[in-house]
Amino acid sequence: MDERSPMRFETAAIHAGQDPEALYGAVNVPIYQTSTYVQDAVGKPKVWDYARGGNPTRAAFEAALAALEGGERCFAFGSGLGAETTLLLALRPGDHVLVSDDVYGGTYRLLSKVLESWGLASDHCDLADLDVVRRSLRPETRFVWIETPTNPLLKIVDVAAVAEAAHDAGAEVVVDNTFATPALQRPLELGADLVVHSVTKYLGGHSDLIGGAIVTKDPGWTDRLGFLVNAVGAVPGPMDSYLGLRGLKTLAVRMDVHSRNAQTIAEWLVQHPQVADVRYPGLPTHPMHEVAKRQMTAFGGMVSFDVGSAEAAASVAERTRLFFLAESLGAVESLIEVPLAMTHASTAGSTLEVPPGLIRLSVGIEHVDDLIADLEQALG
Ligand SMILES: Cc1ncc(COP(=O)(O)O)c(C=O)c1O
Repeated sequence: MDERSPMRFETAAIHAGQDPEALYGAVNVPIYQTSTYVQDAVGKPKVWDYARGGNPTRAAFEAALAALEGGERCFAFGSGLGAETTLLLALRPGDHVLVSDDVYGGTYRLLSKVLESWGLASDHCDLADLDVVRRSLRPETRFVWIETPTNPLLKIVDVAAVAEAAHDAGAEVVVDNTFATPALQRPLELGADLVVHSVTKYLGGHSDLIGGAIVTKDPGWTDRLGFLVNAVGAVPGPMDSYLGLRGLKTLAVRMDVHSRNAQTIAEWLVQHPQVADVRYPGLPTHPMHEVAKRQMTAFGGMVSFDVGSAEAAASVAERTRLFFLAESLGAVESLIEVPLAMTHASTAGSTLEVPPGLIRLSVGIEHVDDLIADLEQALG
């Protein structure tokens, strides 16, 4: 590959970090199922001394994802929460993290139920309101933690504007890019300092692995995280690294179909008499549609809507046939869930509690007419 002509996204997804294997010419990066490596002499490993520190299959996945996010380095983890925990352990007791008021329930639980007692303070605020953001930043704020689109309310945060406010206050910006993926949104180019992922979702794309990642753009963070990856040890196995890498190859084409199907379904839901408050950033009625248009190339596969009560939501979610009733998101098959009773149960009773009648769809890449027919019979 000519170093002077950087690969475009679709090409990097298939070639970055993925040269054919030297010995047999295998076109796929092998699964190096090993926990340790023979050393050339005492204290002289070829590359790694032990597989917690590194593995060739993991390294290939990391190189490919770093290229797709336009970052300096990527570190892979055994889960999205493993990535988040490792990154937050780079902070110190007394530090503060400012987080979106609509955030993945597990991130909320990690901050409020695990790291708070260790001395890391966190606050939630509406990151879509810049005045609120400026007022909520404290001298000890180290990270502003953005999800955009948010989970499950699909709010949009203006990454460039929040990054400017955060940097003015001496804080850095972390974007959880799980919902959009680098195929639709590149936070580092918008001013973010770090990107985190649940690889479990769109990057893997087939509901067959749990994984996480952090992408850096600054050598200081690359050094710090390189140390923490090995010191904390929340690393992925070679098989899951391979599945993550395989998922990346088709990311662009999958995100295109997810986005088109979700747009069609959101527009269909808007006119349905049983449905209120359809949330999809691709709808012109979405309050942050213009920001979404500016920072995303399409609007993704997640759609949320309200059917009025917990009972109504449960009955719709239990009646779909193609949309499987399951937690998680981002795979080829469509999923349906009721956030307050399922993925976001940990927010119940808090200020982050989501409406009981809210349904979240992860729209897959099946034929959209079949998906609409399924929703139609379930809504009754
Ligand atoms: C936006 C977001 N971030 C992080 C996570 C955590 O990832 P994992 O389940 O891979 O630990 C999830 C999981 O649902 C998520 O939706």
